[in-house]
Amino acid sequence: SGKKHESKILGHELAAKFYHHLLTTTEQGKAAYDYLLDRGFTQDMISAFQIGYAPDNPAALKALLEKRGFQESEMEEAGLLLRKESSWEYMDRFRNRVMFPIMNNQGRVIAFGGRALQEGQPKYLNSPETPIFHKNETLYALHKARPAIRKENKAILFEGYADVISAWNAGVNNGVATLGTALSARQAKIIRRNAEQAIICYDGDKAGQEAALRSAELLEQEGCQVQVALLPEGSDPDDFIKIHGKDKFVNEIIKAPFTLMSFKMQKLKKEKNLQHEGDRLQYIEEIVGEISKISKAVERDHYLRQVADEFDLSLEALKQEQHRLFRANK
Ligand code: GTP
Ligand code: MN
Ligand code: MN
Ligand code: MN
Ligand code: MN
Repeated sequence: SGKKHESKILGHELAAKFYHHLLTTTEQGKAAYDYLLDRGFTQDMISAFQIGYAPDNPAALKALLEKRGFQESEMEEAGLLLRKESSWEYMDRFRNRVMFPIMNNQGRVIAFGGRALQEGQPKYLNSPETPIFHKNETLYALHKARPAIRKENKAILFEGYADVISAWNAGVNNGVATLGTALSARQAKIIRRNAEQAIICYDGDKAGQEAALRSAELLEQEGCQVQVALLPEGSDPDDFIKIHGKDKFVNEIIKAPFTLMSFKMQKLKKEKNLQHEGDRLQYIEEIVGEISKISKAVERDHYLRQVADEFDLSLEALKQEQHRLFRANK
């Protein structure tokens, strides 16, 4: 019922205030605060995203929720408390973690992502699925980013919370992220409802690039015009901004995205050694196969010419190959 949802949400809002207070104004939160400053977070970023700290105490939030009259069983269903097997005792789910509140479309707190301060598993602990939190239909920071997304008719999709926050601090206010899961069709639909264009800006590692391809295809299926912003191998947007600065991130990464086809070409090339004739032929066949899936004739022609020029082939031969693959795909 709405009332039950309401107290679960109020529990989260109380938790977010509590965690933020501990982080920013108490001795208990000092190590976490230093950790964040060390990573390049500013007080402005910490306030804007209501970042907090869950103390290393199994009953800190529990005691506060109890004092304010929240029912433990309901806070367990909300994902804030949990019960150890073998014991009836409730305890806090999040302990000794930097807390990133996750908001719904109304800007109300419905979940948390909690990052460990030290290396050690798991790096992030996210709230479980609950009656108020559905990972597949939530995007981190959408409520905050929506005005900019609508105004620019463009959303930037990142992998991590820190990426969204650092990008926001660099003036990129239309960034959102998934919640540690692959982009879902529902999330892609939500993005499309808010903007026609999407730029995917995932981590510059193999996992990030594989995920970028899947997200791009999903967004395209939902009707977005998709481009991919590429980061150097081994860095994510947050790392990049820290190393190279805001201006370089905005001008050389966000404002210089590649078309999906161009991204596919670069990705496929990295996986092959084009010095070898066999690889080269395979690359040509695979990329012509991709080109044959493009629905617009002018675009197909553009990319075919590009491949013809690059490998010194006749356009006629490529067109024949494309028709053969197009029929085979049907
Ligand atoms: P930082 O190291 O804090 O900069 O995190 P990151 O965002 O760069 O992490 P990474 O690129 O490894 O992962 C991207 C996103 O996947 C994170 O923001 C989380 O949402 C999620 N994620 C990463 N590690 C874990 C994990 O151990 N468990 C879960 N559930 N999610 C994770
Ligand atoms: Mn629901
Ligand atoms: Mn990653
Ligand atoms: Mn990352
Ligand atoms: Mn990172």
